[in-house]
Amino acid sequence: MSNQRVPIEPQRVDAPLTQSATFLVVTATKKPDSINTIRSTLAGLDSLAKNVSIRDLSARFACTVGIGSDIWDDLTSLPRPAELHSFREVKGEKHIAVSTPGDLLFHIRSERRDICFEFERQLMNQLGDAVSVVDETVGFRYFDVRDLLGFVDGTANPVGPSVPASVLVAGEDTSAEGGSYIVVQKYTHDLSGWGHLSTEQQEKIIGRTKIDNVELDDAESGQRSHKTLNTIEYENGDEHDILRDNMPFGSPGSAEFGTYFIGYTRRLWVIEKMLERMFVGDPPGLHDRILDFSKPLTGTTFFAPSASFLANLDSE
Ligand code: HEM
Repeated sequence: MSNQRVPIEPQRVDAPLTQSATFLVVTATKKPDSINTIRSTLAGLDSLAKNVSIRDLSARFACTVGIGSDIWDDLTSLPRPAELHSFREVKGEKHIAVSTPGDLLFHIRSERRDICFEFERQLMNQLGDAVSVVDETVGFRYFDVRDLLGFVDGTANPVGPSVPASVLVAGEDTSAEGGSYIVVQKYTHDLSGWGHLSTEQQEKIIGRTKIDNVELDDAESGQRSHKTLNTIEYENGDEHDILRDNMPFGSPGSAEFGTYFIGYTRRLWVIEKMLERMFVGDPPGLHDRILDFSKPLTGTTFFAPSASFLANLDSE
């Protein structure tokens, strides 16, 4: 099994869910060689991935790199993806989706924590002082793909042919074709407050039952659930899906309990609309009650170009 050939393709935004993931966000330093070092590291990312993933092919290693708006022009000298801009803060009456810096995101996934670790170690060796780390979060898969609030997370993700259709830019923006916008937010939870709610109250907030994960209708009060606020529809009623690979993280010893939100999308505006509906509310004032127990510490937007775009970065 461990020697079976499986594709080791860079920029697999649709890579399978894994037991372990590292989310690494860095900014470029002002050193004279920083941009060159980053460019050659990104162009050689496929070799770096091979170095590590060949050691256990069954561990389903994948790394996706996202490039932030501020560094795009210097790094690529190529046309910008049409929707790419920095994360825009969303200010609701009670909660704020903060915007935090980040030039590059590495979303590193594997069944094995040691493989994520080893890849990140070799990556950081190559990047050296060209970058400084803004945030590094190590996520793990929790029972039944649950988040730390206790709910199964990821159910409504697209599957099959709907994945590329929802996630990859196509003919609408030819220079960005095959790439994907990424939004990340690192949330920490007030688990003790959440634990004081009854299971029924929690289920109303999420919009699904806790044990068996069945969808629930919203209450008549007008307060919409997390599930409903994040359902964005075309005029014909079809949904604009995004692909999420959220991961729990934390440390009971230091009372840290979190969810690292990561969303991949073909249309950045869809995730921005979701954030507006969560933080401002729909109707305005009735925000997503998940936020009364979950606080975003970061918020950053990236564009993950196609693998061929990345490999050619160094060719000029
Ligand atoms: C505290 C962080 C978050 C937690 C713990 C969380 C958890 C969940 C859970 C348990 C579900 C229901 C099951 C499922 O379909 O996955 C869900 C649905 C969903 N969430 Fe979140 N979520 C978080 C943040 C976000 C954010 C920031 C966004 C978007 C900006 C988002 C977008 C969605 C979408 C699109 C759905 C599916 C809605 C549908 O049924 O079509 N979530 N989330």
